[in-house]
Amino acid sequence: MCGIIAFLGNRDNAGKIVVDGLKKLEYRGYDSFGFAEKIGDKIRVSKSVGKISEFKETAKTFAKTNLAFGHTRWATHGKVNRVNAHPHASADSKVVVVHNGIVENHADLRKMLEKKGVKFVSETDTEVIPNLIADFLRKNSPREAVRKTAQKLVGRFAFVAAIAGESKLFAARNGSPLILGIEKFYPKSDEKLLAKVDGSAFFIGSDVPAFLDFTHDVVYLDDGELVEIEESPTKDHFHGHFFEIASGRPIKKRVISIDLKASRAEKGDFTHFMLKEIFEQKETITRALNQDEKQIERVAELIRRSFGTFFIGCGTAGKVCATAEYLFAKIARRHVNVIFGSEFDTQEAFLTDRTLLIAVSQSGETADILEAYKIAKQKKVKTVGVVNVAGSSVARQSDVVLPVNAGVEKAVASTKATTAQLAILTLLAFTVAGKPEEGKRVLAEAASSINDFLNPRYSAHLEKIARKIKNVESLYIIGKGADYPMALEAAIKLQEVSYIHAEGFAAGELKHGPLALITKGTPLIAFVPMGKFRADVLSNVAEVKARGGRIIGVSPKNDELFDEWIRVPAVGAAQPIVNIIPIQLLAYHLAVLRKNNPDLPRNLAKSVTVK
Ligand code: G6P
Repeated sequence: MCGIIAFLGNRDNAGKIVVDGLKKLEYRGYDSFGFAEKIGDKIRVSKSVGKISEFKETAKTFAKTNLAFGHTRWATHGKVNRVNAHPHASADSKVVVVHNGIVENHADLRKMLEKKGVKFVSETDTEVIPNLIADFLRKNSPREAVRKTAQKLVGRFAFVAAIAGESKLFAARNGSPLILGIEKFYPKSDEKLLAKVDGSAFFIGSDVPAFLDFTHDVVYLDDGELVEIEESPTKDHFHGHFFEIASGRPIKKRVISIDLKASRAEKGDFTHFMLKEIFEQKETITRALNQDEKQIERVAELIRRSFGTFFIGCGTAGKVCATAEYLFAKIARRHVNVIFGSEFDTQEAFLTDRTLLIAVSQSGETADILEAYKIAKQKKVKTVGVVNVAGSSVARQSDVVLPVNAGVEKAVASTKATTAQLAILTLLAFTVAGKPEEGKRVLAEAASSINDFLNPRYSAHLEKIARKIKNVESLYIIGKGADYPMALEAAIKLQEVSYIHAEGFAAGELKHGPLALITKGTPLIAFVPMGKFRADVLSNVAEVKARGGRIIGVSPKNDELFDEWIRVPAVGAAQPIVNIIPIQLLAYHLAVLRKNNPDLPRNLAKSVTVK
């Protein structure tokens, strides 16, 4: 959802640093990109439509400068074209800004500025920001102009601004992530809270991978905060100063050293991150189970004591949450509520200080979840974050955090984080039932079976099936119990990367409508369980088969109804975890066969930081 990176420091290749950083943030948005460089008293802006990874640099691309910043865009306001690409400059060219988020009151601000004679060139909401700063600059210092502008903006945002003639960078945050990286941070004092930090160079990024090659000393900006970076009077290093947007008062922040290894992600021998991340599931389930027992027990106790537990998530994480309803019913004999993050605000009537909110989020930055947290805080609801990105907003705002431990997930379509989240919710259900050891055993067995079946031969089998169905218009997926949300998740996975129309249904629901969509050759992927529901699901499968449907059975056991059999191990309560893996592979192969980039699906972004 738009990537931002900025650099100011003691190197003269700031433009190159910024463009390389943007390439690492491409998963946040890839409609267009741009960067700005300070050249003398001017700021030069370069921008282009398309993916930053396809940008061809030449010897003349970058100026010699120590200040630059850039942006990779996921369009919200305004078409995908060069004019709407960031950075945006004020009409007088004095102020240049990159921005992530939405300025909800941009129409009013634009009108106000137009009355003052400002001419706008783009359709974006962002363009009001540099123009407001330019307007405030008439009577204010640069920092005050930026602060007053940030105060005027309604909505979730993060922006970086530079002013022509100033060797300074400003960044403000309210709702969208911004992290400061400090190279050669001195004096080293991780323990202390500091209002001013010194370093040889500063980075500002919407995610840490943007600058990890340079430093792992970071400061996470919180909502309502502003940072000003400037050269030291001795001109041999740089300062970062932190301020509260509302009052302009200096504030103290903590410098954190992040675990470099865990934050790096390279493709290695794999053609795509998605494939690499699918294969990493050989070990990520085990890592997910490596939880602090006391914390899991603490959350289990919160669930037992709560008067209403809500699981919330968006997209894939929302489907993971939906399994909780079935897992808790079966394993812990407990009812829990499940709702998408964007719908949580409809449940206000039920929220009290006895409610528990469990948010599942890979990035920990999804705006719909953070909005839900706002309501939760107002109503004194306790919060638990099941989060993959340590240090993310959800992690920092949760009363208790259960880390997903899947490592950096780069591909937009979530895979390894999904199954790790599923493992944690399953373990939680067992813990609530007072059987954490049994939960660990079931999940450890599932993890070891994944290690066995997830191999290149298995992937080749899925590729063969993908070849047979790659030209279909639609396909459907069914499941019962916790496999039903997995059918929904399978549909998302297939939609996201193959662009084939895919829909998931509860197995028994097919005959109540969707059966009308089945014609000769329509693929139906069926999660067919062992045990008491097998016969039910098989009879739903038979109804499709009778109408010419082509059956792809995902099951530990073959059946004569299946045209294709995707074998999965029988792993009891962990079945949803192993069932979704072959569909991730199928989606991946379909994407590649259809010449789509599975890592960067069209119109999507990895973390959606707008409502
Ligand atoms: C976006 C991504 C999805 C993801 C969802 C929730 O829509 O494209 O893959 O499932 O956000 O993200 P989160 O980081 O909260 O899990």
